[in-house]
Amino acid sequence: MTLRVCRARVAQSLRGPSSARRFHQDHGSFDYENFYQSIIDEKKKDKSYRFFRSITRTQDSFPYARCPKTGKKVNVWCSNDYLGMGSNPSVIKAMHDALDIYGANSGGSRNIAGHSPLVEALEASIADLHKKPASLYFTSGFVANEAALSTLGNELPGCVIFSDELNHASIIQGIKNTKAKRMVWRHNDLAHLDSLLASVPPGAPKVIIFESVYSMCGTVAPIADICDLAEKHGAMTFIDEVHAVGLYGHRGAGVIEHLDYTAHQSGRYDGTGKSLMDRIDIVSGTVGKAFGTMGGYIAGSGAFIDMIRSVARGFIFTTTQSPAVMAGALAAIQYQSQDDSDRIALHRNVTSMKRTMAQLDLPVLPNPSHLLPVMVGDAELTRRVADILFNEYDIYVQPINSPTVTVGTERIRIAPSGAHGLAEQQVLIGALEEIWVRLDLRRASEWQSEPVWNTSVSTTRQIWTDEQLGLSPEVATV
Ligand SMILES: Cc1ncc(COP(=O)(O)O)c(C=O)c1O
Repeated sequence: MTLRVCRARVAQSLRGPSSARRFHQDHGSFDYENFYQSIIDEKKKDKSYRFFRSITRTQDSFPYARCPKTGKKVNVWCSNDYLGMGSNPSVIKAMHDALDIYGANSGGSRNIAGHSPLVEALEASIADLHKKPASLYFTSGFVANEAALSTLGNELPGCVIFSDELNHASIIQGIKNTKAKRMVWRHNDLAHLDSLLASVPPGAPKVIIFESVYSMCGTVAPIADICDLAEKHGAMTFIDEVHAVGLYGHRGAGVIEHLDYTAHQSGRYDGTGKSLMDRIDIVSGTVGKAFGTMGGYIAGSGAFIDMIRSVARGFIFTTTQSPAVMAGALAAIQYQSQDDSDRIALHRNVTSMKRTMAQLDLPVLPNPSHLLPVMVGDAELTRRVADILFNEYDIYVQPINSPTVTVGTERIRIAPSGAHGLAEQQVLIGALEEIWVRLDLRRASEWQSEPVWNTSVSTTRQIWTDEQLGLSPEVATV
């Protein structure tokens, strides 16, 4: 049961006559604590209650962490600090230096004492990364999406927002907070998107919002085709590259840069409008994942950014990020845009793992990205897989369950880094094979008839090609 269904049930029970008895105390006042507990109980009953596992990451041991209770060392296979930039010496030095120079606090919101040359430099580097005239930095990627979309939806008269059904909660929340009409298209289904766009009057402002890499299934949007549809129907394009920045593209600008890899690598990109970077109107990203720090952003035209800066409540009414964090983010973007070795190492490991796991019939949901969603299909069993990995194999991955994914498609989500070499891969894959036998879990071949398993997605074709990674097609497998 999703959280929404759970809330609906509680709300429904509140409307009935018995609810008064259930949540009202003898003296008539509402029993808040009992109400909170009823929501928790529902989640425990449907096994979607979340347990946080506390681990201690240290800056000299990436990708390992320590279990604070037992002191044992665990290998972290689920971090979004994909490139280990949270431990990168240039990032740490920049943060130390900023702390020494500026202190801990930014001084206020951007309107009140919080604007500085540091945030200007950070925004200039983000705009440069995405080849856009301007950018705006927020306290998180969630806030960036929510603020930008809710502002667009409220300001554009009669706006209709077209949203992929697998879009992230920050996007959904941004749309919910607007007066705009929302139309949801089936995941990556261009024909469906086309028909929805055609159902809206040509003159109405339209925003197509989608992600480049979908973080829970690893699928990648058909970006060029979506741009074609946007042009056909006079719509704007807004792409979330949160799980792609740092990881794709010659300079780490994301999938839209990567899809014109050779032009960018050879310096032939000329900004004349033919590349995907020019065709996409708005990009959102984060510096909290592959850039190892904290904060999110949008990049786009000068007038668009100035409007969001002037109107968006999630930007205006909050304290600017700490200078140390902004300095670290700036250093991370500069480092990654000049050196592609971390992302190449990561994708080489991804390629070798996907090939080995396919040979073993382990159920990695087919996708062309850096993510390995391993399907289990039951909340309790997924938790057991994660517990066995942690307790018996010193491997840390988190179970992914509802509402992040739908009931029946629970999974563990493996995110290899460049530091997860062949020896580490061998341990993880050996452990998974043993657990799949022990718990008699479904194999890839048994998942193929399920709707979640998109058989049209190749298990071998990746965004990073073997050639770009310097691999022979018979790359070493574990
Ligand atoms: C697709 C997507 N967009 C936005 C966000 C929010 O980014 P942040 O973690 O910087 O708030 C996330 C977070 O996981 C995400 O997966």
